[in-house]
Amino acid sequence: MASIVCFLLLLLSIARSCHGGITSPYVRKTEASIDMPVEAFPPPEGDNAPEQVHITQGDLIGRSVIISWVTPKDRFPNTVTYWPTGKKHHHKRQARAVTTFYRYYNYTSGYIHHATLNKLKYNTRYIYELGRHGSTRRFSFATPPQVGPDVPYTFGIMGDLGQTYDSNVTLTHYVSNKKAQTMLFVGDLSYADDHPLHDNVKWDTWGRFVEKSTAYQPWIWAAGNHEIDYAPEIDEHTPFKPYMHRYHVPYRASHSTSPLWYSVKRASAYIIVLSSYSAYGKYTPQYDWLKQEFPKVNRSETPWLIVLVHSPWYNSNNYHYMEGETMRVMFESWVVENKVDLVLAGHVHSYERTYRISNVRYNITNGMSTPIKDPSAPIYITIGDGGNIEGPAYRFTEPQPSYSAFREASFGHASLEIKNRTHAYYTWHRNHDNEPVAADSLWIYNRYWYPEEEHSSASYMV
Ligand SMILES: *[C@@H]1O[C@H](CO)[C@@H](O)[C@H](O)[C@H]1NC(C)=O
Ligand SMILES: *[C@@H]1O[C@H](CO)[C@@H](O)[C@H](O)[C@H]1NC(C)=O
Ligand SMILES: *[C@@H]1O[C@H](CO)[C@@H](O)[C@H](O)[C@H]1NC(C)=O
Ligand SMILES: *[C@@H]1O[C@H](CO)[C@@H](O)[C@H](O)[C@H]1NC(C)=O
Ligand SMILES: *[C@@H]1O[C@H](CO)[C@@H](O)[C@H](O)[C@H]1NC(C)=O
Ligand SMILES: [Fe+2]
Repeated sequence: MASIVCFLLLLLSIARSCHGGITSPYVRKTEASIDMPVEAFPPPEGDNAPEQVHITQGDLIGRSVIISWVTPKDRFPNTVTYWPTGKKHHHKRQARAVTTFYRYYNYTSGYIHHATLNKLKYNTRYIYELGRHGSTRRFSFATPPQVGPDVPYTFGIMGDLGQTYDSNVTLTHYVSNKKAQTMLFVGDLSYADDHPLHDNVKWDTWGRFVEKSTAYQPWIWAAGNHEIDYAPEIDEHTPFKPYMHRYHVPYRASHSTSPLWYSVKRASAYIIVLSSYSAYGKYTPQYDWLKQEFPKVNRSETPWLIVLVHSPWYNSNNYHYMEGETMRVMFESWVVENKVDLVLAGHVHSYERTYRISNVRYNITNGMSTPIKDPSAPIYITIGDGGNIEGPAYRFTEPQPSYSAFREASFGHASLEIKNRTHAYYTWHRNHDNEPVAADSLWIYNRYWYPEEEHSSASYMV
């Protein structure tokens, strides 16, 4: 009988599975798109002009910003001049950068600068200037409001961006989304490693490509597999070498010993960044750090607890299937016990959102290996659909597993509008639509303050 009902439902909607949620019939296209040419991203004009400008949070609470940029020829000037807007007699301040460079096979990077601006005022727009006369470049950013439980704040969410024509559509859509104030980026940046000898020029072109967003708002970075750049065949033995030279994060502020895992507080959110490609077994630095991190989260101060990780723990795509499983086994009980609101991942070049489910009962002998509905569990979002050179992952596991609420094989980005301690509005924007269209949307209820069940309104009709 059940199977007949199921069959009838199947006839009613090809998109709905009796076992789980919705598989959108919409597939953007199945072929990979090519990288935009290097010539599309020439260096800015001017002698030794600063380029590849990007900013991120520089401390635990949002009163500090790290500004990073590259100068191609000369190490100097290595300072940034900055001042708040809106004041008549603004006092200009200067910060000096820590400057580095690296070699990778036969590639030598430009001078990579990282300057930390401290003791900024909350909720203030600052102008900053890099370079010297003739090649000066000016940008601005806004500091967040002071950390607090009901502070509204909007995050963008993106992953696996790369630098193809599709990546360009994703980024263009994101930039046109005027609400998003800070990006939560779930890893896989340039895809330089998909090119011969990990062509590190692709790291430079990517830095120029994303500058129109990264110079103006912080991107919170998580590292993906395309950041590893481990290539013993060309004598490159240091994992994450290009990434760690180019992208600095405030890991010491959260007492981490590695830039690959750390946390920041921003407005009403506590964001924990993990590394899928660093040891996380018991007794390892990442494990010990995370164990000590959860008790520090005060939900009266930061109600929203969000985890970023590259490889998803729940995902029903055939592509990279179960690669995140060992990390799920290590950490899932902690995210459930600590009522994490959202776990955001990338890696799989498709979009998927789960129900609140957990699979923490299983102990090998009891056979209880099926995920179950769990109001304390996070929603898992896989958003590795930035549009990179490897193309979309369109082969889903059938039937759709019971934990999967919505999945679609197309490119896009998401936005999380935190309204107060109980409510946040989440939307996913596929590239094919105009930016204001939400192909998947959900009022998310905070797990600590309002652990009610959510009701999704996925508009999977194309
Ligand atoms: C690095 O080596 C490759 C392959 O031999 C060559 O095509 C490329 O031009 C070289 N790049 C530099 C900067 O020397
Ligand atoms: C990237 O997108 C922007 C905005 O739509 C467009 O102006 C630009 O020409 C695109 N770049 C390439 C290389 O297609
Ligand atoms: C948690 O944060 C609230 C609000 O800032 C504060 O009143 C309270 O003392 C904090 N609790 C702990 C244990 O620090
Ligand atoms: C495994 O789970 C079962 C059922 O919950 C329980 O009875 C058993 O003691 C557990 N085994 C171990 C080794 O914890
Ligand atoms: C929180 O925001 C939601 C959505 O805007 C609103 O419905 C609710 O009343 C707000 N709660 C409080 C306590 O203001
Ligand atoms: Fe990946």
